[in-house]
Amino acid sequence: MRFDRIIQGGSVVTPTRTFVGDVGIIGEQIAALGPDLDSTGAALIDARGHHVIPGVLDVHVHLELPFCGTTSADDYRTGTRAAARGGVTTLIDFAIPYAGESLSQAADNWLAKAAGKALIDYTFHICITRWNEHRDQIKGMVDRGFTTFKEFMIYESEGWQSDDRALFGTLEKMKEYGTMLLVHAESARVLDELIARHHTPELMQQYGARLHPMTRPNFIEAEAISRVVMWSEATGGQLYIVHMSTAEGADIIRAAQARGVPVLAETCVQYLVLDDSVFARDDGHLFACCPQLKKPADVRRLWEGLQHGEVSVISTDTCTFSREQKAMWEGDWTRIPMGMPGLETLLPLTYTHGVLTGKLSLEQMCLKLSTNPAKIMGLYPRKGALVVGADADIAIIHPESTLPVDPAAMETNADWSPFDGWPLAGFARTTLSRGEVIVDNYRVVGHEGRGRWLPRTTAGLR
Ligand code: URP
Ligand code: ZN
Ligand code: ZN
Repeated sequence: MRFDRIIQGGSVVTPTRTFVGDVGIIGEQIAALGPDLDSTGAALIDARGHHVIPGVLDVHVHLELPFCGTTSADDYRTGTRAAARGGVTTLIDFAIPYAGESLSQAADNWLAKAAGKALIDYTFHICITRWNEHRDQIKGMVDRGFTTFKEFMIYESEGWQSDDRALFGTLEKMKEYGTMLLVHAESARVLDELIARHHTPELMQQYGARLHPMTRPNFIEAEAISRVVMWSEATGGQLYIVHMSTAEGADIIRAAQARGVPVLAETCVQYLVLDDSVFARDDGHLFACCPQLKKPADVRRLWEGLQHGEVSVISTDTCTFSREQKAMWEGDWTRIPMGMPGLETLLPLTYTHGVLTGKLSLEQMCLKLSTNPAKIMGLYPRKGALVVGADADIAIIHPESTLPVDPAAMETNADWSPFDGWPLAGFARTTLSRGEVIVDNYRVVGHEGRGRWLPRTTAGLR
């Protein structure tokens, strides 16, 4: 067999084994895996002394999102450049319909944001924000190649909030179409009440950003997860809890899975490496996100959930805001744009704080960052694993050499990082997307607009 390109001599992680050898690429696909592939006429990439792993899928991303009175600062150009540098080769964003728009218009809007800018492949979860209008449009979106939908249990002021009727009805449709509903689970009414109680000039002056965790105790997430899990159990509709942040959430998911409820859960890497002590910092407001960072005991339980299996995916919930945007809070913590940058550091953080600390094996990391997200989101085996016939989406990382997180040197538009100065191993020395080198020697070399939209026909694990 003649290959166009061969990645030589790396430690190659496949779903069935990790071996030292080669990856042979023809066109955009992986054509062979093995020791000493015939290199005649092939372009060679030296991976000796490196891990060769599947490109990462970040399945929870918000690029150029109008939100909290501003627009998130990474667009499809900077966001996908950041992704590539962090070994991410596929992302899934959320297409959200605005006033009066249909689901189809939302998808068109997001396709237009990505066109000509994306460096890596992408698709969208379709957000259902007005059940009465959108319920009859779901099947049309499935026929268009979108198999994952999303509802928010909070964000009434954004016009995004779904009630139990919508959650229940959507899950019924997910069961009927073999598709999946993603849910942001926080308990809106109790949260509103706790915010109202704490939102006084005196308390804001006294506590500043520390009010953020004070109004969101763990039961805010736990109650919402248990309620929507109940709707999944009652309807049989496939459910996926996004950005799960609490120990209670992990317990509920574990128990539900044990009794056969079709529910899956994702956490985000920030919930694995940070806790709510950051809100006491002078710049603590920068870390505001929904749900907020929790306690060290939650962090430990989420790692355990990844090890035991109830937490299937690690993502980022990238929703970048600059220091200037975060300054919109002016001491009123309810006006902070919620979200943080993340695409560029997902793999380095998981590798450094998961694999190098012994919490996850390298193979488990690839499962949580690549294989599981691809399977669950209906992109496997095209994406998510180093197997013959898959797209040659590959990251090559050095096992231990580190780079400091330096916002000035990063691709993201953020002028700060939650991880500023942290030494991290696992930045991509080389990233390939569909056989093309898009990061070389830690620098982005791929061209904008080469990324493609990915149609899908399935979702979930059943
Ligand atoms: O703070 C966050 N997470 N911002 C993005 C919107 C969401 O809830 O995912
Ligand atoms: Zn959310
Ligand atoms: Zn999100």
